[in-house]
Amino acid sequence: MKVLIMGGSGFIGSHLVKHLSDGNKDVTVFDVQKPNQNVEFQSGSILDASLGDKIKDIDADKIVNLAAIKKVSSQNYYEAFNINSLATVKLFEICRDLEMPLVHLSSTAIYGTFVYEPADENHPINPVSLYGLSKFLAEKIGREIIGDTNVPLTILRPTISYGPMGDDVVTLFVKKALSNETITLVDNGIYRRDFLFVSDLIHAINLAIDEEVPGIFNVGTGNGVTIFEMSKVIQKIIPNSKIVNVVGNGKEVHQGAIDITKIRNELNFEPRYSLEQGINETIKFYSGAGKPFLHL
Ligand SMILES: NC(=O)c1ccc[n+]([C@@H]2O[C@H](COP(=O)([O-])OP(=O)(O)OC[C@H]3O[C@@H](n4cnc5c(N)ncnc54)[C@H](O)[C@@H]3O)[C@@H](O)[C@H]2O)c1
Repeated sequence: MKVLIMGGSGFIGSHLVKHLSDGNKDVTVFDVQKPNQNVEFQSGSILDASLGDKIKDIDADKIVNLAAIKKVSSQNYYEAFNINSLATVKLFEICRDLEMPLVHLSSTAIYGTFVYEPADENHPINPVSLYGLSKFLAEKIGREIIGDTNVPLTILRPTISYGPMGDDVVTLFVKKALSNETITLVDNGIYRRDFLFVSDLIHAINLAIDEEVPGIFNVGTGNGVTIFEMSKVIQKIIPNSKIVNVVGNGKEVHQGAIDITKIRNELNFEPRYSLEQGINETIKFYSGAGKPFLHL
């Protein structure tokens, strides 16, 4: 089976490329930046006018879409909405026309502040961030475009994913603790998140590729943990970690545990890493004792 990974040179893409290649799948990465490993690579942007022809030429069996700008601000929102929303919708159209199964990564950022917990896939959509809004537009329009066809569209909504090569709050704190820098908690770290180790997310994407079950699926652990508690897990493993508190700007979003019943039931997904285990693997990687790519 040949899998085309759009945006496959980033954090999640790097882990996915490794695992799909190890699993004897042919992989092609399409990205504006080069992958960090030896894999078939097509340089390009999902904004390219000839995207449809390029995808046709690659002749894959399935597409996984990871291409996105994660940091969306007043400085780059035009470009970010073009990529995360409009070009992504174009990709949905291409998949519909080529009858190409697609696994698309959305995000739990689309829920905004949780109004109940654990948040399931029917939780109200109320993105607080521009990023969340851009991700929601893509999946909403994408479902309109593909929903009535026979093309399998699997939308995954992962929570915050962390691990080797990540750029999230857990990985940032691990790197700070290892380099003896102070970990800064905003508002005493009261904000709760469902932290997902990257191997577990790769496991979920693998299942989505293999099972081809259309629908929308949360991906997480089902456990809500405060950022303070997460930092204490790091401190338990690296006892000399320094943690300080600062007052925030009131813009942090209150979330928490997500409900993973649907992906458990329909894709047989089960998270395999506790927060302690995932943090331990991340620490091993950054202290030079671990492998960058972890076995599922
Ligand atoms: N990392 C997380 O915690 C997380 C959580 C939920 C959802 N997601 C989603 O998963 C996907 C991958 O996330 P990631 O953490 O690997 O992000 P990343 O920023 O590490 O990787 C994104 C990749 O997309 C590529 N890209 C950007 N613009 C492009 C364009 N115009 N054409 C082609 N490629 C382009 C980038 O070069 C990069 O390689 C994203 O869609 C993100 O929204 C990530």
